[in-house]
Amino acid sequence: MNESTNFEPRSTSARVGPKCVIVAGFLVVAGVWTNQELGAQQAKPEVFSKYVDATGEISLPDDFETAFVHLGTVAVATESDKPVDELHGTYTRSEDLAAFLKDGKFPDGAILVKDVRSTSHSELTTGDAAYGAGVKVWFVMIKDSKGRFPENDLWGDGWGWGLFEGKDRAKQVATDYTTDCRSCHVPAKKNDWIYTQCYPALSKESKVAGSAEETKGSTAKSD
Ligand code: HEC
Repeated sequence: MNESTNFEPRSTSARVGPKCVIVAGFLVVAGVWTNQELGAQQAKPEVFSKYVDATGEISLPDDFETAFVHLGTVAVATESDKPVDELHGTYTRSEDLAAFLKDGKFPDGAILVKDVRSTSHSELTTGDAAYGAGVKVWFVMIKDSKGRFPENDLWGDGWGWGLFEGKDRAKQVATDYTTDCRSCHVPAKKNDWIYTQCYPALSKESKVAGSAEETKGSTAKSD
């Protein structure tokens, strides 16, 4: 009995021995790998968004129409007594939407794209339908919670702000977000400058059914 009790621990330690060696070997390999990773990261300048270069120049994603999530479209009559003549569609990446749904805010590097289209009108079986025609402009906002580009006039208030004309989606044309963008976004300042009430996924109030009166009320609140 005693003999067997004494024997068991020795046997266990004999079995554990080789495992320890394997685990230690794995840690050494893991350690080398981690150091290599760190070395590679330190060598590269920080790239926080593939749509922003080292000087803060913003580019329009090539594939946002197919790869991003469409948050919603706002129909706009640019002259109040005329019919709808613009459609404003807003898109973000699925990971940015997921982060927003989790934390209630867009994370560093999040991107929003808005396209402004003129409209075609037709009598369809639904009624007088207005649908998107050619693109007039694209707007881009990229979240920057670190204030990375203090010298660049397209960056400030926690975002990078870009504008592209329909005739050339490769050329960013805004020069200063404080004059080109900011004043128009002041009504949305409390929502981190984003008109969240326009998008069902971002806003509880636009997810539920409401009367015309309520809809009017929520617009008035944002002004
Ligand atoms: C004339 C006022 C006006 C100007 C100028 C303007 N915006 Fe906006 N922007 C709005 C409004 C209002 C919305 C939401 C409703 C809509 O699209 O009509 C919006 C929406 C957006 C959106 C979609 C996300 C959101 O907040 O709803 C982006 C992105 C955007 N704007 C970027 C910009 C950028 C970048 C500039 C400057 C280059 C700019 N805007 C200039 C009024 C403006």
